[in-house]
Amino acid sequence: MQSVKPQESLYDWNEPNRTVWTGPRPRVVDETLRDGLQNASAKDPPLDDKLAALHAMAAIGVDLVSLGLPAAGPRAVRDTTALLREIVRARLPLKPTAAARTTEGDVTAITNICQQVGASIDVYAFVGCSPIRCYVENWTMEWLLDRIRKAGETARREGVLYCLVMEDTTRTPPNVLRDVFAASVDCGAKRICICDTVGHADPIGTSEIVKFARKTLEELGAHDVELDWHGHNDRGLALANALAAASAGVRGVHGTAGGIGERCGNTSMEQLIHQLVVMGARDAVPDHAFDAYRSIRVEAVQDKKPLTTSGTTRAEPAEPLVTLRTKVNHESVELSARPSRTLLELLRYDLDLVGSKQGCDEGDCGACTVLLDGEPVLSCITLALSCEGREIETVESLKGAPDLDPLLDAFDRTGAGQCGFCTSGMLMSAKGLLSREPRPSRQRIREAISGNLCRCTGYGAIVDAIEIASNPAAHAPAPLLPGQEWLPKPLPPYAEKKK
Ligand code: FES
Ligand code: FES
Repeated sequence: MQSVKPQESLYDWNEPNRTVWTGPRPRVVDETLRDGLQNASAKDPPLDDKLAALHAMAAIGVDLVSLGLPAAGPRAVRDTTALLREIVRARLPLKPTAAARTTEGDVTAITNICQQVGASIDVYAFVGCSPIRCYVENWTMEWLLDRIRKAGETARREGVLYCLVMEDTTRTPPNVLRDVFAASVDCGAKRICICDTVGHADPIGTSEIVKFARKTLEELGAHDVELDWHGHNDRGLALANALAAASAGVRGVHGTAGGIGERCGNTSMEQLIHQLVVMGARDAVPDHAFDAYRSIRVEAVQDKKPLTTSGTTRAEPAEPLVTLRTKVNHESVELSARPSRTLLELLRYDLDLVGSKQGCDEGDCGACTVLLDGEPVLSCITLALSCEGREIETVESLKGAPDLDPLLDAFDRTGAGQCGFCTSGMLMSAKGLLSREPRPSRQRIREAISGNLCRCTGYGAIVDAIEIASNPAAHAPAPLLPGQEWLPKPLPPYAEKKK
């Protein structure tokens, strides 16, 4: 019998149809330290782990890396500064980027770091552009374009590259895209990031929007403006869409370690690079470099095994356990806790009440807000043992249907949540306010949620929702006529909405 060599025993249906990659080498943009950390189950890792992650990214050939969202608070500023310093010190071949809302303050938060370190960071300024997003935020087109221009002009003045990150691009009509592109080019944007923020696109739609974007930029004479692709995995298509975007001509494709990211996650960087190598678009990466990169893991609450970014289990300090008796959501609870246990850890890890989010973990973002004896507190900086004999209420205490809590109803009706990461903290700050002041002014509402950071910039709708919840009868929807079906309020003409 004739022997068959192992390589001859495989037939590859991909090969005969494989086209040689003709475009420029796609850059990969690592969003693990920004989008990855916005996953509801993620915990911001210690700085040392972030520094190790930077080196692992460089080893697999990542081109650009997001260092975070400096405007999120002092810890974000500290970490972004340290990461930038490390790139400079170790001469890592990584181009640093950082996220900002399209506000002058957020852009300046980044450029201040550039000045301090003496190195440049590309500003990735995000704003929702789709009509549905503008509708729930009560934004006019004029206001939106003005905001994009002002942030871009701030970046230009400070001498840093401005990339407009168009949230929800894949649900934005062509006329709006054209206007936004024109405003971005006008204020000096050198990059535009097309975002499939809610994982809506499929590979055909992805290819179409990239081609449309490229053609529009050419028509605007903006030949030097590059495109990025940032896609989420809600329908399991993140990788397929990223590859479609690269094939259609984007220069930068975003991904994260293990695909961690907001909600269902982002494109897996490991799979993205591997597939681009197979397609002949990038050079191969040594296995040992991938092994190091794969060890980047952000703490996942589902495991209940805290992992550092180096993949090792974080040592629990040896402390005597102390008995704690308290009330959580009107039920008596008795359990043993370490004296250093925070209230947030107790709720999420010991009681499985994961509605309170673990954002910054140091009192900056408000995502962990709960009520302690009726007053909002930041559970991440409240020791569990300080709650002995007291009453804790979490977002899980808000009633669902049929006795739907007015706050939940109003948040739903106004579209006050987008990714939802800040929502439980917002709800509990609002609940604390309404129990003290049943009919607060809008100014009082703003003050009450001033410690709650919404990275999706949803404050307008959130204030509306809390105002509605404070007086549901005054804002009740009109009763349905006999035979009439419930319909959502119709979208008004896009440009006619008033701010
Ligand atoms: S997690 Fe950010 S304030 Fe507590
Ligand atoms: S942070 Fe996403 S809705 Fe507020």
